[in-house]
This record gives sequence, structure tokens and C-alpha cells, in this order.
Amino acid sequence: MKAALYERLGAAREVIRIAEVDRPEPGPGEVRVRVRLSGINPTDWKSRSGATARPLEGFQIPHHDGAGEVDAVGEGVDPRRLGERVWIWMAAAGRKWGTAAEWTVVPAAQAVRLPDSASWELGACLGVPALTAHRCLFADGDLEGRSVLVAGGAGAVGHFAIELAHHQGARVVATVSGDAKAQMARSAGADLVVNYREPGAAERIHSFAPELARVVEVNLAANLHLDTSVAGPGTVVAVYAADGADPILPVRACMSANLVLRFVLLYGVPRPALLQAVADVSGALEAGALSALPVHRFPLDACAEAQDAVESGVVGKVVLEVS
Ligand SMILES: NC(=O)c1ccc[n+]([C@@H]2O[C@H](COP(=O)([O-])OP(=O)(O)OC[C@H]3O[C@@H](n4cnc5c(N)ncnc54)[C@H](OP(=O)(O)O)[C@@H]3O)[C@@H](O)[C@H]2O)c1
Repeated sequence: MKAALYERLGAAREVIRIAEVDRPEPGPGEVRVRVRLSGINPTDWKSRSGATARPLEGFQIPHHDGAGEVDAVGEGVDPRRLGERVWIWMAAAGRKWGTAAEWTVVPAAQAVRLPDSASWELGACLGVPALTAHRCLFADGDLEGRSVLVAGGAGAVGHFAIELAHHQGARVVATVSGDAKAQMARSAGADLVVNYREPGAAERIHSFAPELARVVEVNLAANLHLDTSVAGPGTVVAVYAADGADPILPVRACMSANLVLRFVLLYGVPRPALLQAVADVSGALEAGALSALPVHRFPLDACAEAQDAVESGVVGKVVLEVS
């Protein structure tokens, strides 16, 4: 089969190549998926570049997320799944078979039925961002009738955080850096959108949501002052990104707010919590509560360019057209 792969870490255009490799066969409990679209996340380029290196044995086909159709099942998997449209999550976690190839093989639970109403683009872009958003939102309890602040509401994680929180009955405030992103956050269902670069952001958030249950935080160092200003007892600030400098923790301000800090890295989330997240994301999909961000499409042959586009911070999602 045709695949994008790398055998050493480094710059995308130096280490990613397009190659023919043997098509994988599903083992017991696994399914093989004919990949249509491969969705790219920041973790994919960070793993490949060595910024956050993951173990590399032989070759690595990148990308955790994708969408396609089940075309073979391993022992113990219901053969009625053949032909099923699926979204794929964490395909490359501890495995060679990422989604940047004509086929991938994953444990059956990591290829999840994609409802007919959901596009391939939505399915290919769900895994990492939606599961991360779920963990940040729900690790500390449900949110029905509560208020949530989503920092960076037009980002991939931010987008699904807004949609999942809204779907679970929360009131959602999102921060953004400008008008176009404000429109994206509003379309996702944010009840209030605030430009975090403008004065008065904290006051607007606090008056709309005086008892915040969660902050879904993309940049703790940049937003710590804002977060401590709007948080109170019972607010959990769930941090899922570590770009840029580490924050200096203002202990007294955190104490005064009675703030709880949670950190989230998808690779270490306990399996039962991940499976619950998958079930809840599927429920939201079935209910039509999730939507695709704008998608930038690249051919499989341009995998390196596509990863560079993600690294450069394009707005929306980048996918590879595989088949
Ligand atoms: N822990 C995990 O398991 C996990 C999972 C998924 C992603 N991540 C990490 O999370 C980060 C975001 O991933 P993504 O896929 O959502 O990326 P993305 O689609 O590029 O979104 C990032 C968003 O954050 C916004 N942003 C940046 N600085 C901000 C600030 N100070 N306040 C508010 N918003 C800010 C950006 O917009 P503006 O710059 O215009 O504000 C952008 O909309 C990456 O570093 C990624 O590696 C971690």
C-alpha cells in the first residue's frame, strides 16, 4: 500500500517520504480501515520533529485521526462491521499504523461508527481534539446548568470544547483574538465571545459567568491572570497545551481564587475515561451537535507540506486525501 512515513526524526521535508509498504492485516480484536481522510494535529508534527519525541522503531506512519471504511476484521470482531463508516482515534499511539496511508489497522474500539449524517471531514478531525476537549470538560463532573470558559474557542480543541459543553447543557464563554475567530466560536454555540486581547475581558466574563465550573485552557502562562480573575471556589482550570514559556505560578492569586489546576495529556488519560469520552463524543455526533471546522485538503503525497501547514498554525483543520 502507499503510505507517508518517516524512519528518523527531523524537519518534515527531510524525513517524511512516500513509500510502498505491506498492507497490514488485522490481528485479534482489530479492524483494518480503508482510509479516506487522514486528520493532522499538532502532536503529529511534534512527534515527527522530535519536539515531543515518541518511541520510534523502524518506520512510523504518522497521524492519529482519520476516517474511512472497515474493510477487514480480526478474530473476535463482528463481521457485520465490514463496510462500516468509521472515525479513527489514536491510531499511531504506540503503533506504526497511523492514518497517513491507504489502510490502517487499529483495535476495534478505536474505529468508531460514523453516522451517515456526519461528513468524512468531521470524522477525520474528531479524535485528538474532541477527546481532549472531553477530558478537560468532564474529568471533574458533569456540567448541566454550569458555566464554562473555553480559551481559544476557534482552535480545534476549543471548537469541540464549546460544542460538547453546549451539548451537555452548559453555558459557554469563549475567548478569541479577533472577529473571524469570534464568528467561528459563535457558530460552534458559544453564548458569549470575548476578545482576550481587549481591555475588560475579565469583567465581561465574570459578569456573564460569576460561578465558572471549568476553564479549558490552551495557554496557561498567557492567561493565568485572566483565569485567576474570573475563577472562584469550584473552578477547575484544565490545561492541555504547553506551547511557549512555562508560567510563574502566582500562588497567592491562585489561593485567593481557591483554584484547582488540572493537566491533561491524551496519551496518559486512563483507558476507561477515553472510552467514556468516545461514547459521549459519539452521542454528540449522533445528535448532530458536532460540526467540522474549515478544512484544508492536501494529497497524501504532500504529507510534509500538510504537517508544515499545521505547524504554521493554519486556522481550521488540515487533512490528507488518501483515497
Ligand atoms: N494535551 C493534549 O493531549 C493535547 C491534545 C490536543 C492538542 N494539544 C495541544 O493544544 C494546542 C492547541 O491544539 P489545537 O489542535 O486546538 O490547535 P489550533 O487549532 O491551532 O488552536 C489553537 C488556538 O489557541 C488560540 N490561542 C493561542 N494563544 C491563546 C491565548 N493566549 N488565549 C486564548 N487562545 C489562544 C489560537 O488562536 P489565537 O492565537 O488567534 O488566539 C488558536 O485558535 C497545541 O499546542 C497542541 O499540541 C494537546
